[in-house]
Amino acid sequence: MKIRGSTILLTGAGGGIGSAIARQLARQGASVVLANRDVESLQALVAELQVHGGRVLALPVDLADPQGPARLVSEAIDRTGGIDILINCAGLQNFGFLADESPEATAALLQVNTVAPMLLTRALLPHLLAAGQGQIVNVGSIFGSIGFPCFASYSASKFAIRGFSEALRRELADTGIRVTYVAPRFTRTPFNSGVVTRMAEALKMNQDDPEAVATSVVAAIERDGTDQYLGWPEKLFVRINAVLPRLVDPSLIKQVALMRPFATERNR
Ligand SMILES: NC(=O)c1ccc[n+]([C@@H]2O[C@H](COP(=O)([O-])OP(=O)(O)OC[C@H]3O[C@@H](n4cnc5c(N)ncnc54)[C@H](OP(=O)(O)O)[C@@H]3O)[C@@H](O)[C@H]2O)c1
Repeated sequence: MKIRGSTILLTGAGGGIGSAIARQLARQGASVVLANRDVESLQALVAELQVHGGRVLALPVDLADPQGPARLVSEAIDRTGGIDILINCAGLQNFGFLADESPEATAALLQVNTVAPMLLTRALLPHLLAAGQGQIVNVGSIFGSIGFPCFASYSASKFAIRGFSEALRRELADTGIRVTYVAPRFTRTPFNSGVVTRMAEALKMNQDDPEAVATSVVAAIERDGTDQYLGWPEKLFVRINAVLPRLVDPSLIKQVALMRPFATERNR
C-alpha cells in the first residue's frame, strides 16, 4: 500500500523496532498512531515525528488486557477518522527452560504476541472491508519458523502468528486487504536482555540494527509483500527447517549445552 497519505496504527511504537518503523513512516508522509503501554515516554518521539507534516498521535494500550485491542482500535478510528494499515509490532520474549517459566509469564507472552494481534485485526477488519482496502502487517520472528530451544513459548507465539497471517491472507484474497508477515532475526534492541545478548554472541548469531528491520517492514508494505524472512543464511534455514526438520534437530540440540549456562544464569 502507498504509505504517503495513509493512516497507520502501530503497536510497540516505543520499542526499538517500533520507533524505527514510526520514524520511517512519518518521514514518508504517513499519519501515525503510536500505541504503547506508557505514552508519556513517547512525547519526545511524537514531537520529533510531527515535523514531517503527517498527523502523529500517541494512544495508551495494555495488550495483556483482553479488552485492550478493541478499545485501542475504536479510539484510533474515533481520533483519526479511519485506519488504513495496522502494524502489529508489540512483543514480549521469554528466554530460558520451559520448566523454569511461570505459567503467568507464558500466558502474558501468548496474550501480547498472539492473541492481541488477532483481536486488533478482528476489531479493524469491518472498517477495512467497508473501505475495500487496507493492510495488516504482523511482525513475527525467524523463531516463528524454527522452533528454538530455550525460546519454546516465544517460538510458539510466533509460529501461531505466522499461521494466522497465512490463513487470513488466503481468507481475504478476494478483498482489497493485504496481509504481510515480516520475520526479523536477532535485532539490537532492549527486547534482548544482557544475558540473551551474551548468549547470542556465544552462539555467533547474526545481528541487525532496528533501522534495517524497519526498512524491510516499510518496503514490504509498499510492495504488498506476503512473507518476508530477514537475513542470510536465516532465510535459507527457514526453508530447510520447513522441508527437513529432522535434519536441523542435531545442530539445534547441540546448541542447548551452549545455552544452558545463560538460561540458568537468567533464572538465578
Ligand atoms: N529484537 C529482536 O531480536 C527481535 C527479533 C525478531 C523479532 N522481534 C519482534 O519484533 C517486535 C518488536 O521487538 P523490539 O525488538 O522492538 O522489542 P522492544 O524494544 O522490547 O519493544 C517491545 C514493544 O512492545 C511493547 N509491549 C510489550 N508488552 C506490551 C503490552 N502488554 N501492552 C502494550 N505494549 C506492549 C513495548 O511497550 P512498553 O515499552 O510500554 O512495554 C514496546 O513498545 C516484537 O514483536 C518481537 O517479537 C524482535
